Amino acid sequence: MGLTVAVTGPTGEIGTAAVRALEDDDRVERVLGMARRPFDPASRNWKKTEYRQGDVLDRAAVDGLVADADVVVHLAFVIMGSHRESERVNLAGTRNVFEAVTAAARPRRLVYTSSVAAYGYHGDTPVPITEEVPARGSAEHYYSAQKAACEELLAEVTGGSDLEVYVLRPSIVAGPEATVLLRSLPWEQVAPYVPEPIRKALGLVPGLRPVLPDPGRAFQLVHHDDVASALAACVTGDGPPGAYNLAGDGEVTVSDVARATGAYAVPVPGGLVGLTAGLVGLLPYLPAQVEWIHAARHPMIMDTGKARRDLGWTPRHSAARTLAAMADAMR
Ligand SMILES: NC(=O)c1ccc[n+]([C@@H]2O[C@H](COP(=O)([O-])OP(=O)(O)OC[C@H]3O[C@@H](n4cnc5c(N)ncnc54)[C@H](OP(=O)(O)O)[C@@H]3O)[C@@H](O)[C@H]2O)c1
Repeated sequence: MGLTVAVTGPTGEIGTAAVRALEDDDRVERVLGMARRPFDPASRNWKKTEYRQGDVLDRAAVDGLVADADVVVHLAFVIMGSHRESERVNLAGTRNVFEAVTAAARPRRLVYTSSVAAYGYHGDTPVPITEEVPARGSAEHYYSAQKAACEELLAEVTGGSDLEVYVLRPSIVAGPEATVLLRSLPWEQVAPYVPEPIRKALGLVPGLRPVLPDPGRAFQLVHHDDVASALAACVTGDGPPGAYNLAGDGEVTVSDVARATGAYAVPVPGGLVGLTAGLVGLLPYLPAQVEWIHAARHPMIMDTGKARRDLGWTPRHSAARTLAAMADAMR
């Protein structure tokens, strides 16, 4: 008999690709996907997948989900949210999932998707970052701090149990179905409030094209389908439990993003990012999203050798191709 896999967050940018990869894996018989909003598996051509309505904040719903699963994949998370909402879902919800899986009799594996952000943004972080580097997080960025806290929680809750625990640490995820990076750019945030003719006109006037400050720091991207193949390898493969960095080959810069999206890149000194980030920390009442500025403070380039070696993972999309595919999808 094949595996039953429970997935929290099956409709997200990673979840959609992950369910597709599990649908294609012969060792998987059934996928139980839990999200708050309903989805129709048949309309996505998913044949093994069933929808379970539920919120990770509801422990009873999580208990019910994991009781029927051999492997649990935890993806439900708030990435772009307020401090309050992200803290509730990401800390309390993730605790529910980790505790429920550890307490349940059936699951033997737990796969959790952390992030490069779990390492935190520190001047003394080595480049490239291997999995040996402690996931310290950065207190000044809610997402980074919460990702590090969840990894600590995971070790605390599952320590001493027989569960096989896999932690994936992807770089920024991108691709035609993962556009959060481009949707978070400043002009995309204001675009819905600008009438269409004016938007078009702005796009045609060179002097008024969107401008992106480029501190010249390269960063990694990973395609959603490559994250999905790593997740499937953790669910059904023979690789040892542990933490795995994930990133596609090569790197891109803000100037590459500008070229791909029709914006202008303006070089700015790296120190300006640190200065701006410092100011953000001093100003009260700013939306939590501005804290993402911290992600650009230091080079965050990961070594992905361990996933390639131990999971047999080979990313099929380079950073440059992934960026191009994401930009195409946004047009
Ligand atoms: N995207 C990236 O660049 C990136 C990079 C590194 C790591 N990651 C990590 O990968 C994981 C998945 O990210 P993603 O990009 O796929 O996220 P996403 O696109 O924002 O999707 C979030 C998913 O979680 C569900 N969800 C959210 N809150 C929930 C709740 N309270 N209860 C149940 N389900 C809930 C959502 O469905 P409903 O809203 O319908 O409930 C949706 O299915 C996260 O842990 C994220 O931190 C992402």
